[in-house]
Amino acid sequence: MDKFYHIVTYGCQMNVHESEKIAGILSEMGYASCEVPEEADIVVFNTCCIRENAENHAYGNIGMLKKLKAARRDMIIAVGGCLTQQMSKAENLHEKFPYVDIIFGTHNLCHLKELIERKLREKKTVIEIQDTEGDIREDNRPLRTSYPNAWVNIMYGCNNFCSYCIVPYVRGRERSRDADKIIDEVRSLVAEGYKEITLLGQNVNSYKGRLTFPRLLEEIAGIDGKFRLRFMTSHPKDFSPELIDVMARNPKICNCLHLPVQSGSDAVLKAMNRRYTSADYLKKVAALKERIPDCAVTTDLIVGFPGETDEDFNDTLALVDKVGFASAFTFVYSRREGTAAAKMPNQVPEEVSKARIMRLVDAVNAKTRALSQTYIGRTVEILCEDYDGKRGLYMGRDEHGRMGYFACEKDMTGQFVNIKITHANGISLTGELVQTV
Ligand code: 5AD
Ligand code: SF4
Repeated sequence: MDKFYHIVTYGCQMNVHESEKIAGILSEMGYASCEVPEEADIVVFNTCCIRENAENHAYGNIGMLKKLKAARRDMIIAVGGCLTQQMSKAENLHEKFPYVDIIFGTHNLCHLKELIERKLREKKTVIEIQDTEGDIREDNRPLRTSYPNAWVNIMYGCNNFCSYCIVPYVRGRERSRDADKIIDEVRSLVAEGYKEITLLGQNVNSYKGRLTFPRLLEEIAGIDGKFRLRFMTSHPKDFSPELIDVMARNPKICNCLHLPVQSGSDAVLKAMNRRYTSADYLKKVAALKERIPDCAVTTDLIVGFPGETDEDFNDTLALVDKVGFASAFTFVYSRREGTAAAKMPNQVPEEVSKARIMRLVDAVNAKTRALSQTYIGRTVEILCEDYDGKRGLYMGRDEHGRMGYFACEKDMTGQFVNIKITHANGISLTGELVQTV
């Protein structure tokens, strides 16, 4: 191969998987992957716009390629994803970085080959932002990069319009993939040797196909072979007793649930348009824990939503205390142009949000640490993912998503092993290899 690509990905797992689809397109065009932009003939930025800092990261890194592009004029720079799906942002990007060759939106990913060919023919910047979702394309074969895990999209888009969130504007309305195509894909992945399947969607439990989401999950869990099944993300309003039942009855489905709560204050939840109260959330978690007592619940939390008072924030701290999340992603509210919350009065001053997030992180970490301590002396099953050269240890995860490290000489990637936990440090565990499973 004499043509190389380099992809830079920002944001969520959906984007990570979409970068695998971009890699699939580029490899079919004869490009091979390379580690650094300096060696690449094409550099693709797959962007995110969920918060301002994700945008700024992308702008910073695109800016850093200016010199390289001046020295290597035939190198192609393409920028796609959620950020450029917004026409105003795409135009702004074109103005600020005129040396970017291709700008495309989330709905145009499948046309990347044509866009590159057009750029090779024409001198001017190719900009293609389609504002309708189009049909789901099944013909892009991803070039997977996260063995032993394989990401599998089951639905795209979001209809929820949480008032702070830009996703429904850049990912369009909900579209579900055909259930049989999903099941066939998982069956082939398991046959190829993937040991963990993660079903992806902005709101997986509003999946609408021939099967409901719990039935789809159960069919997939019924596929022969040893593998773990995960799914994300679930919306609390759609998290049903039927799903709890399917999780409880199928050992391949990990006892682990990512259930973003966002806030513990009912006033804030209402203003966020989340359509549940903190009591509803606690009831659902209690029902889950009743059936699956050791189920790890993880979450997303936002502080500094417009109008959030000290009392509202204290309600969030109280909820964190009651649930005892295995871990949580914590965010400072970021104002997104075009969303309902961007127009709300009483935007919270930055210093107030900063103080709140520090307290929240401390509260979350204290719970995570306490939970980790309960692992000491226990033997847990780890799926080996990677070698951590710095620490000279192998790294894997247990079904709850906790990282487990152990010393080992040989390459164990993709194997299930049992380790006896000797130390717990924050969210990660260290142990001794007991046996391979
Ligand atoms: N500001 C801060 N956090 C946000 N999220 C989504 N939109 C925003 C925003 N405008 C968070 C939510 C969501 C996660 C993926 O990102 O917590 O669950
Ligand atoms: Fe955004 Fe809410 Fe949809 Fe999640 S459910 S993607 S937070 S609008």
